[in-house]
Amino acid sequence: MRMVDLIQKKRDGKELSKENIDFIIQGYTKGDIPDYQMSAFAMAVFFTGMTQAESAHLTLSMMESGDKIDLSPIEGIKVDKHSTGGVGDTTTLVLAPLVAAVGVPVAKMSGRGLGHTGGTIDKLESVPGFKVEIDNKKFIELVNTNKVAVVGQSGNLTPADKKFYGLRDVTATVESIPLIASSIMSKKIAAGADAIVLDVKTGSGAFMKDFEGARELAHAMVKIGNKVGRKTMAVISDMNQPLGFAIGNALEIKEAIDTLKGSGPEDLRELCLTLGSHMVYLAKKAESPEEARRMLEETIANGKAIETFKNFLSAQGGDAAVVNDTSMLPTAKFVTEVQSKEDGYVSEIVADEIGTAAMTLGAGRATKDSEIDLAVGIVLHKKIGDIVKKGDPLVSIHSNQENVNEVVNRIYDCYTITKQPVDKRTLIYDEIRE
Ligand code: URA
Ligand code: CA
Repeated sequence: MRMVDLIQKKRDGKELSKENIDFIIQGYTKGDIPDYQMSAFAMAVFFTGMTQAESAHLTLSMMESGDKIDLSPIEGIKVDKHSTGGVGDTTTLVLAPLVAAVGVPVAKMSGRGLGHTGGTIDKLESVPGFKVEIDNKKFIELVNTNKVAVVGQSGNLTPADKKFYGLRDVTATVESIPLIASSIMSKKIAAGADAIVLDVKTGSGAFMKDFEGARELAHAMVKIGNKVGRKTMAVISDMNQPLGFAIGNALEIKEAIDTLKGSGPEDLRELCLTLGSHMVYLAKKAESPEEARRMLEETIANGKAIETFKNFLSAQGGDAAVVNDTSMLPTAKFVTEVQSKEDGYVSEIVADEIGTAAMTLGAGRATKDSEIDLAVGIVLHKKIGDIVKKGDPLVSIHSNQENVNEVVNRIYDCYTITKQPVDKRTLIYDEIRE
């Protein structure tokens, strides 16, 4: 086989075989296939697409390129959740203990990454004492004992994807549905999931800005998952405004605690109950998603959800007392209210701009080596559809610098207030099963 022939085959819209795809991925990972040929291949896929069979082969080939996590010593069906990313997405922090509370094992390995805030493990590190560097043996033990553990990524998962994603990033070939779908699914499968619930976000703060693109991506991932023997479904959810109220690391821990106690923001609670009910159903702990939802609501109401969160924190060295005293979390020196300049209704909140504002305060990493400030971030007081009076706080800025004028101006640019009443946004647009 020669790479040039395979590029031509793809360029001409023909279907590549499993052997062809393995040749490309193995050759590229080893360094036998140079970047310039792989770039041409990516561009050919960008223009001609891939069949379902091709994307399934690509997924498995990338999955096989590195270490795989063996979760088989964990009892039960391991259901993982993946979100395509948004602003202030606190769902994992709520979902992990929530579904564990009804007996679904959650074995989550999480990266730190770039973004508006840190990743889930960064957020958890705001709990005093909490440890994320845990070896595989202990990780499995923790899940078997508590049903939930969240640890930092160790080992070398999907190096082919890492290299290929990096190349796509600089060759204008990221935005290819089969390549995105295979990239995400290869990582989920290498991480040991038996079943997968996907939260595909759409809107101004999402990776997929428009609904049709989000839906196409959701179908592509669900088809790959089911084709390679992992039961997979997707929820398409709104990301036209940040999820919940909090954007920040310690601030989102507090928001997760509130939600697990039953008093968090309505949209965050609703999305967690929806995703959670599908996880519980796929884990075969309920006869239907509706029954699963009732079970989850019950664990919030009777305190089991927050109890599970406490046990999870202590098992990883964290001080569970934070649950009753959130002042133990890192706290910013300054809190600045941004007040509405007029009466009306909130009609728009530009999500990714607010996210970027949180990042400039220090809540997220702009580059791989940036330091995160766990205390800082933004808390929204008004969401789309809310009525506001002049002088009402729109958001609070939590900062460790006194002068936040620039962030205040950014916030004003993000909020649009109109005179006419505005409907609340739909949160869940669709559920995709095939
Ligand atoms: N996220 C991924 O993990 N991979 C892609 O290709 C795009 C987004
Ligand atoms: Ca949030």
